[in-house]
Amino acid sequence: MYRLPDHEPPLWWQGNLIYQVYPRSFMDGNQDGVGDLIGLNQRLDYLEALGIRCVWLSPVYPSPLYDFGYDVADYTSIDPVFGSLAEWERLLGRMHAKGMKLIMDWVPNHTSHQHPWFIESRASRTSPKRDWYIWRDPGEAGGPPNNWISFFGGSAWELDAATGQYYLHQFVREQPELNYRNPAVLEAMLEAMRFWLDRGVDGFRVDVLWLLIKDAAFRDEPLNRDWNGENPHARLHHIHTANQPEVHPIVRAFRALLDQYPQRVMMGEIDLPFAELMTYYGIQRDECHLPTNFSLIHTRWTVAAVRRVIDDYLASLPVGAWPNWVLGNHDQRRLASRLGQPQARVATLLLLTLPGTPVWYYGDEIGLENGIIPPEQIRDPQAVNQPDRAGQLGRDPQRTPMQWDASAHAGFTQAGVMPWLPVSVDYLQRNVAVQDSDEASFLGFFRQLIRLRTQIPALTRGDYSPLLVTGDAVLAYRRTWNGKTWLILLNFSAERQRLDGRQYLAGGRKILSTLTRTGSEVANIAADITLEPDEGCIVELTGPA
Ligand code: NOJ
Repeated sequence: MYRLPDHEPPLWWQGNLIYQVYPRSFMDGNQDGVGDLIGLNQRLDYLEALGIRCVWLSPVYPSPLYDFGYDVADYTSIDPVFGSLAEWERLLGRMHAKGMKLIMDWVPNHTSHQHPWFIESRASRTSPKRDWYIWRDPGEAGGPPNNWISFFGGSAWELDAATGQYYLHQFVREQPELNYRNPAVLEAMLEAMRFWLDRGVDGFRVDVLWLLIKDAAFRDEPLNRDWNGENPHARLHHIHTANQPEVHPIVRAFRALLDQYPQRVMMGEIDLPFAELMTYYGIQRDECHLPTNFSLIHTRWTVAAVRRVIDDYLASLPVGAWPNWVLGNHDQRRLASRLGQPQARVATLLLLTLPGTPVWYYGDEIGLENGIIPPEQIRDPQAVNQPDRAGQLGRDPQRTPMQWDASAHAGFTQAGVMPWLPVSVDYLQRNVAVQDSDEASFLGFFRQLIRLRTQIPALTRGDYSPLLVTGDAVLAYRRTWNGKTWLILLNFSAERQRLDGRQYLAGGRKILSTLTRTGSEVANIAADITLEPDEGCIVELTGPA
């Protein structure tokens, strides 16, 4: 049995799902083919009606867009492509009036090469800001200082011909990395965060938090002998560019700043095995509120594998740490493309009934699938820079425009305007308008599930107990709160499963199924429970558990 840390009532980021908006793709309010803040503001009612209470917004800061906003040229302003500071304040004001929270993406590891700090840093070896970035002389044989590589292909070092030194970038070369061994950098970053906190932002999702500081001796990284030949970045073991012990004081400094304001949250993007991931809660629980848990994305979709991931994760959590679960984001293939539509619903039911805060990617609630991007329309640098592997590595397919209705460009932008990425071809059938009035649609199911989470405290705060069910097709667990129990049964297979209900319950009724047709109660359960192919359900126990 696993019991959540006690917060009565739960804090806002503990009880609510975090919905990620990728702003370029959500809604184009000014008809230039790129989504923006006006567009998001226009669609706020959609999110509100869906029961969303918390939005994480990917970067909207001024940026030359070499990595679509993850290359920030000014931390305290809004890019005109997305709107203005006034527009942002209007959005936040409306959100707060509706009882919604806004988490901004924060990208402290690197800036854009056009950020004034970098322009000054690169100007000369004696520039006062030279040491704000990571500069090194060429290696002994000439060439890069060491063997470190970029996530987006090739060396992580770029030569600056004018000054004869290399600077570090683990993403595109237009994303030089800041030097957190220089205290002035941390000070400047905290100052910029304060800008948004003073204006009322509710928290930050911190980009690549586990990469913030690198080996002081710049040692080569060893080869990964288990590399499967796929992602070139996995060719090395990243023991000197990631997860360095010196990162923790920096995380604590970010958190200490947030703690000066009431009820702010820090979600840290961290992609590490559980033992290391847990250290980012901080020994005194004084680091991230939510270090991101990507294990449900990384795991194979079998009952045994998923059960192991859940058990291991919950068992690894330190005392007082609030769990977190992620099924998709702008870097991962779409949920419905990874698992197929029926299992995507099963996974959704899992995500929203596990103990902890779920993170949701825009469009997954209508079952958006990976788009097909013609070669001439590929935009993502990860694909552009590695054309031989573009098919596997590009992230454009999961960033296609939201599909609102069956009008031109799915209602994302107006007719005659070219969306920045092509709208998926299935938008005539798969869109919000079509699914909105159909309780049996993915959207209808998702909305009911969110509603249940607000009505049944067990689903957000209850104790979690795994159940062993015969066979390898069904994942089962209980959530219990105040003496009442709900059973969650997830059929991972495409075959009908019959369970001997007497093992689990003396009486109960399904209150939600991934296959619900009407949205109302599905069936009373007496002795046996039948799960249809790919069915997941929540059963309210009416007899003793
Ligand atoms: C992680 C972000 O999620 C990804 O989209 C981005 O390319 C890198 N960090 C670099 O900022």
